[in-house]
Amino acid sequence: MIGNEAGKERAAESVSSLIKDGMVVGLGTGSTTELAIIKIGEQIREESLDILAIPTSLKTEMLAVECGIRVTTLTEFSSLDLCIDGADQVDSQLNLVKGGWGSHTREKIVSYAAKRLVICVDDTKVVEQLNKPVPLAVLPYAVKVVKELGGIPVLRQEGNRGGYFIAEGGNLVVDADFGVITNPEKLGVALSSVVGSVEHGIFTNATEVHIGDDTGVEILKR
Ligand code: A5P
Repeated sequence: MIGNEAGKERAAESVSSLIKDGMVVGLGTGSTTELAIIKIGEQIREESLDILAIPTSLKTEMLAVECGIRVTTLTEFSSLDLCIDGADQVDSQLNLVKGGWGSHTREKIVSYAAKRLVICVDDTKVVEQLNKPVPLAVLPYAVKVVKELGGIPVLRQEGNRGGYFIAEGGNLVVDADFGVITNPEKLGVALSSVVGSVEHGIFTNATEVHIGDDTGVEILKR
């Protein structure tokens, strides 16, 4: 088991309660978001809600459809009411490291198109300062160059099969360890200028974070 399952459930339930009839909602990727998607599906059935969702990965899209959630595209709706997503780490200022599932490029695009980015995590993800390696989605052509960016960069492998992890969009992922990240915004700006890197996993645009633990949910707002 990775993380606190009861906490994930509670956080997922808390964010899914924000869904209202008529909304266009972005759906992130990851095990906590999956729990939220299942709950949104239940709400749609129980309350006859009419909502549209924009998924950030094929896995999310398939689950959403399975749960009875109608999916659409950014071409049709480039402004979203809400984006629901998980995170790999959250700091006390609501900065995030994302990209554990390699979907952070689409997650960032969809989250910036949304009026609110609402994050659901269990309590094991919360830290005072971010310190997780930052995932970068990298064009395969540029991977050797991007590995020179600083920090300790590791090209992500797929399980133990010796192949590379292929992210959404066919990119490779370099996880770059910068130790404690004292200024996420500044590091994010620096990583945005790395040529050959399509997107990095530092997010500074979360508007609220729902943190589930064994007893309840704490909601932090920016
Ligand atoms: C996907 O690429 C990530 O940004 C996820 O949001 C993150 O990995 C959280 O996943 P879990 O909910 O499975 O921990």
